[in-house]
Amino acid sequence: MNRTPPENKAVIGVMCIVVLVSLAYLLSGNIDTTSSASLKAAFAEEFAGAYAETTEQDGTVVEVTVTAEEGAVEIFEGHTTAVWSYNGTVPGPEIRIQKGNTLRLTFVNNLPQESTIHFHGIRVPNEMDGVPGATQKSVQPGDSFVYVFTPKDAGTFWFHPHKNTSEQMERGLYGTIIVEDEYAEQYSQDIVWVIDDWLLEEAYQISPHFVTRHDLAHDGRWGNVITVNGSTKEVLSVRPGERIRLRLINTSNGRVYKPHFSSLQADVIAVDGMYVKETFNADGFALAPGNRIDVDIAIPNDAGGKSFVVRDFFTSYTNTLGTIAVEGEAVETPAFSHPTNPQVPDWAGAADTPVDAEYILDARISTSGDIEWTMNDKVFSEHDPVTLRHREFNKIRFTNKSFRLHPMHLHGQFFKVISRNGQPVSERHFRDTVLVSSKETVDIGLIPLDRGIWMNHCHITEHADAGMMASIIVQ
Ligand code: C2O
Ligand code: CU
Repeated sequence: MNRTPPENKAVIGVMCIVVLVSLAYLLSGNIDTTSSASLKAAFAEEFAGAYAETTEQDGTVVEVTVTAEEGAVEIFEGHTTAVWSYNGTVPGPEIRIQKGNTLRLTFVNNLPQESTIHFHGIRVPNEMDGVPGATQKSVQPGDSFVYVFTPKDAGTFWFHPHKNTSEQMERGLYGTIIVEDEYAEQYSQDIVWVIDDWLLEEAYQISPHFVTRHDLAHDGRWGNVITVNGSTKEVLSVRPGERIRLRLINTSNGRVYKPHFSSLQADVIAVDGMYVKETFNADGFALAPGNRIDVDIAIPNDAGGKSFVVRDFFTSYTNTLGTIAVEGEAVETPAFSHPTNPQVPDWAGAADTPVDAEYILDARISTSGDIEWTMNDKVFSEHDPVTLRHREFNKIRFTNKSFRLHPMHLHGQFFKVISRNGQPVSERHFRDTVLVSSKETVDIGLIPLDRGIWMNHCHITEHADAGMMASIIVQ
């Protein structure tokens, strides 16, 4: 009879324990998967109706021509600055349409190089998204392209090139699209502030060195002059008692702002175009490149003659953005409750659900010695798109291995921030751009409604142009 030696008995014992432990692990794994599947189904249910799934057209077609061309503007009195502009001004046109209207925008490219227009934040049919090589061909100099779409959401949006973006945006190419809803009439004033910074040289000209090694080693190109609506001295005149809707858009290549409204109470009613579930104070909101906030400000009745300076506190050096000057006869403050979207989901417990796609954000040096910005060690041309499930909850993780900032932007989708560095975040609003800080990990959740191939990139345009772009497919 073969007797098992004692040491082998011990081995068998250990093996049995290993088998048991792995079984238990597998079982608990199964339990986790089913519970997270039912959680995801519950998230989809909670999301239903949070924003429109289909387009509702009212039959009105608004026709606009947007021509990109070389020109000049006056930022500083008595000095002209050469720019590239849409329709001769920087910022370009403020296009206002009603929700339900169809926009038919003819883009004429009179630039010395190829271009396209991307409509940031607007859920458009995929072929109208303006991404060369993915959704359309570049528009050649002298050519034009007609963009037609009916926005599904009311809100604050903007448009800019998606070709050689760093240079084209920095030279002045960006405009705004405001999709109005029934609240437009209720405010005393509905105003857009387009915030940009410029890197000007001594003769008031835009520095022609784009995507420099310095820009790439830092948070993109930060300018030395900040403008609101193209002016260093923007003043919004209001009367005591007025209630204003102020829409702030950051069109800078790299700079982040933290706007502070002096002693005025500024309630955020919308982020990235979409109404919030509950308003919150604007102070401290990091307005990264691409981001928008709409604030609701009631001017106090006794504020006549006062000026409120709106400042930026993102860096240790405080910048002046613009001024709200109160003058004239007091008016009665329009009384209505803040526009909000009660259907923004909470997605409680989302922080514990599995990650569907992770992107490691980092830099590398190319064989020719250039700085490249990567997602999962790949630049844009090396990526295969990640497929997300249509109408299901998907979780994406951005893990920033670098010390730089990366405002990550998704085309065609809105998402919610789920957690930062593993800590659940309870933002009560959607976004299309989220600032991922130095060495930070940010999880976002989304339920894609719009099919197509959509870009997922850093909105620091220098980082994106140096590779920090991937794409997702929703099918
Ligand atoms: Cu404003 Cu591809 O983005
Ligand atoms: Cu970046």
